[in-house]
Amino acid sequence: MAFKTIIVEQEEHVTLIQLNRPDALNALNAEMLEEISTALSEAEQNEKVRCVVLTGSEKAFAAGADITEMAKKSFVDVFSTNLFAEFSDNMLKFRKPIIAAVSGYALGGGCELAMMCDFIIASDTAKFGQPEINLGVMAGLGGSQRLTRFVGKSKSMDMHLTGRFMNAEEADRSGLVSRIVPAKKLKSDAMATAAKIAEKSAIATMAVKESVNRSYETTLNEGLLFERRLFHSLFATHDQTEGMDAFIEKREPQFRDK
Ligand code: HXC
Repeated sequence: MAFKTIIVEQEEHVTLIQLNRPDALNALNAEMLEEISTALSEAEQNEKVRCVVLTGSEKAFAAGADITEMAKKSFVDVFSTNLFAEFSDNMLKFRKPIIAAVSGYALGGGCELAMMCDFIIASDTAKFGQPEINLGVMAGLGGSQRLTRFVGKSKSMDMHLTGRFMNAEEADRSGLVSRIVPAKKLKSDAMATAAKIAEKSAIATMAVKESVNRSYETTLNEGLLFERRLFHSLFATHDQTEGMDAFIEKREPQFRDK
């Protein structure tokens, strides 16, 4: 499908979704959110796709929700349409691994979009922030909840209340990102990471994603039980036998996603 606000490329088993509204620093307008949802739905249905990378430009991953689009809306508009709820649901229901590759600004909805991915690889120029307070509003796509879980209450409050930005080094130190790479290598590093994930058993990667995400939703004991049962259930798969046999026979496994 032809898109206007994103560029979608396929490299072997990895789909690259690049946000592409350079004149607005990739501000997330309704059209872009719809196109990301469509691209994800296509990636979900395409059996060849085993991992997704979501990225922006070198200057901006995304500088937030589109302020010009939001400015004229009333409470009734946003409440009655449940603004951003459908997009949030679309991100959450995506079952394949999705990596955010962040360079430059990831602000407001941009920071929230990155946090909705499974993990974030940051370039050394990345800047994260929840500056909605400067617009007289607050985070609306999960920022107050997810950032707090990533970096703790004190830093999250600081970020949301002052609107200050966090650089890549602080984001790494605080656990917001998995690692930092030089800006010029961000795309190739994220694609190589995705390709490595694509080599694994898709059943196991889906189970990992469900189990780690469950840790946010439940108590430790329930989470441990959920993990143990998923672990047990993987012993019903071909890929468990193959993975362990391959290790013992000192060869590469041939996973079949079953
Ligand atoms: C619409 C935006 C935008 C945004 C930047 N632009 N951010 N347009 N929505 N969120 C536009 C600018 O208006 C400008 O357009 C062009 O992109 C370049 O931006 P500049 O400001 O000229 O660039 P610079 O001086 O380098 O400053 C970069 C910046 C600044 C620090 C990122 O643009 C900025 O503060 N942007 C807003 C960040 C923000 O508040 N984000 C949160 C949004 S609210 P023109 O036409 O003038 O060239 C939000 C709510 C989330 O995200 C709730 C749920 C999703």
